[in-house]
Amino acid sequence: MNISIIGTGYVGLVTGTCFAKLGNNIICVDVDDEKIEKINNGTTPIYEEGLDELLTKYKNKIKATNNYKTAIQNTDITFICVGTPSDKDGDMDLSFIEKVATEIGKQLKEKNSWHLIVVKSTVLPGTTQNFVLPILEKNSEKKAGKDFGIAMNPEFLREGIAVKDFLQPDRIVIGTYDEKSREKLSELYKEFTCPIIKTSLSAAEMIKYASNTFLATKISFINEIGNMCKKLEIDTYEVSEGMGLDKRIGRPFLDSGIGWGGSCFPKDTEALVTWAKKEKQTTKIIESTINVNNLQPLKLVELLKKHIPNLKDKKIGILGLAFKPNTDDIRYSRAIPIIKELIQNGAHIKAYDPKAIKNFKKIFPEIEYCTSATETLESDAVLITTKWEEFKKLDFKEKIVIDGRRLKEAENAKIYEGVCW
Ligand SMILES: NC(=O)c1ccc[n+]([C@@H]2O[C@H](COP(=O)([O-])OP(=O)(O)OC[C@H]3O[C@@H](n4cnc5c(N)ncnc54)[C@H](O)[C@@H]3O)[C@@H](O)[C@H]2O)c1
Repeated sequence: MNISIIGTGYVGLVTGTCFAKLGNNIICVDVDDEKIEKINNGTTPIYEEGLDELLTKYKNKIKATNNYKTAIQNTDITFICVGTPSDKDGDMDLSFIEKVATEIGKQLKEKNSWHLIVVKSTVLPGTTQNFVLPILEKNSEKKAGKDFGIAMNPEFLREGIAVKDFLQPDRIVIGTYDEKSREKLSELYKEFTCPIIKTSLSAAEMIKYASNTFLATKISFINEIGNMCKKLEIDTYEVSEGMGLDKRIGRPFLDSGIGWGGSCFPKDTEALVTWAKKEKQTTKIIESTINVNNLQPLKLVELLKKHIPNLKDKKIGILGLAFKPNTDDIRYSRAIPIIKELIQNGAHIKAYDPKAIKNFKKIFPEIEYCTSATETLESDAVLITTKWEEFKKLDFKEKIVIDGRRLKEAENAKIYEGVCW
């Protein structure tokens, strides 16, 4: 099939590249000229394992442009993959979606054949039907369900292993407005062997929010248990093993530490709470999940102060700036509140990350960045904030290490403290 992808970030570029691998022709649209140039040269503008190789291999099946006309007129399906960040009130900012839907609508007006528009961005229940669809109809002067199709197909990939997650998902959710859209999207996914759930537009949207909120809650829950375990000198990871073997619970997402970050959990939990408030619905569990997560990274600084009560002018090494390993994404990284707190205490920061330094410099230009993890160890104490594989090889023996991510190899440090163990 001929597919256009609007927005070539983590979701859009992975979606486009993987669909190219599955034999489709892809036109990517972005407003960022640097990204467009890189994609057209067969290199990826983001770091994601395996993506570079795929992009190079399927270069002749993927074109990037800033031109909506080229994209819509030469494809049959368009995936909307632009960001849906939080606005200043915690609400979902739909301005990118609005712009994109307007542009697509204008192009649909000029098109004679049926076209399917699929919302892949994470949007609150009701958004595709009550926000995207009317914009498309207004700008195209055409009718949804007759002249064009509309669907909602949430994405569940995890950054760092996004290519694998896209190609081997646990499930695919297809929410549709009309039968023809359902058939077309089912056809596109026909080679996938996982369960394919077919729902309404709103149910598909809610499945995404409920999934992310549940996973965030699972982590905050084990962190709350972990804080109690720390007090009781219990190893939380033994507790997680014991709990996780129960099939009703499951072991994934029971790794206690300094909490969750990234581009999804923080904004999605926040958006659901903000929406619920407006609708006079209660979200006590989700609000607690967020509160636990806000406090958790600061525990690392508290533990550090047990060993170095006055942090003024002390050199503190930070190992890891990305919100998790194998990505350069720093959105809501737990290193951010930790570094802010350390700076407030007068500490000198020596930070290192294998992939995320460039992005981190944009928000913290003032701190010292090391060229290697070993250089970070030349500090009064080291905090482990992201569990990168290469940190396992470091020699921590003579160091004070405060670990937020359970790096077993650091346990032989001169002084070692785990946040929940
Ligand atoms: N990152 C994830 O792990 C993940 C996983 C599942 C779902 N999601 C959801 O997918 C959506 C996209 O997330 P992301 O992380 O890929 O975002 P991103 O910020 O990495 O990428 C968005 C891209 O859209 C482009 N863009 C902005 N305005 C545009 C316009 N008018 N026309 C064309 N392109 C435009 C930007 O330049 C950028 O390249 C969000 O709703 C997010 O919640 C993300």
